[in-house]
Amino acid sequence: MAELTLDQYFELAWKQYTETTPCAANIHSLLIKNGENVINDHVAFRTFDHEKIGLNQFIKFFAKWGYEVRGEYTFEEKKLSAIHLENKNDSSLPKIFVSQLKNHLFSNELQQLINKVISQESKSFDDLILKDQKSWKVSYEEYEMANHESEYAAWVLAHGIRPNHFTVYVNELTKYNNLNDLNQFLKNNGFTLNNSGGEIKGSVDVLLEQSSTMADKIKVQFCDGEKEVSSCYYEFAKRYSDSKGNIFQGFVTKSADKIFESTYEK
Ligand code: NI
Repeated sequence: MAELTLDQYFELAWKQYTETTPCAANIHSLLIKNGENVINDHVAFRTFDHEKIGLNQFIKFFAKWGYEVRGEYTFEEKKLSAIHLENKNDSSLPKIFVSQLKNHLFSNELQQLINKVISQESKSFDDLILKDQKSWKVSYEEYEMANHESEYAAWVLAHGIRPNHFTVYVNELTKYNNLNDLNQFLKNNGFTLNNSGGEIKGSVDVLLEQSSTMADKIKVQFCDGEKEVSSCYYEFAKRYSDSKGNIFQGFVTKSADKIFESTYEK
């Protein structure tokens, strides 16, 4: 496969994402129909701490387009670590946010399941992220076992290496350039927002406000049959300037912690 340009990659990633997240495609069209220009703030991924698919693989994958690590985060309760990448050549390009499960902090049973599944994976990281997402086999029983300990682990097992969410950069909207108005508009149009910790996470004080829809549900083929599980959600971010007048480009752990819950089963 010829090397993709970054634009081509984002187009592909959007296609992978909207296949499992129809609400994002619907909201995107609705905003366009209302005259808005939709700019992406960031694309987020979830993975496991494993050499085959861990954070280092993402860093290597995005480095060829000029991305570099600009932030590191820890989520104590959910037992995750995360990084965010920015493009050194063009700061207007979407940021990349990648989190990974700290597998070693979970039960032996879950660690063994993750190791079993990832060691079966014969595809290269590039093939996974660009084409297949996963070729590993997991049963619904194993999914549920993982879900009992970590909803995040279950999500990665079921969906593989694919974008978890895209994020509308609310600053660039004209009619709906604040989260109160945008959230109201989305609710008026029948979309359900994640209310964990309030609809709007963060504040002007932390220079970032975020909201998100609740995740869609899709059918996933497990090795013991097809089941409907949570897929992905669409996110909205409004950023504010610091005392030096620079728009904050990082992430706020406390807010992201609640956003992660957008894939929780209702
Ligand atoms: Ni996000």
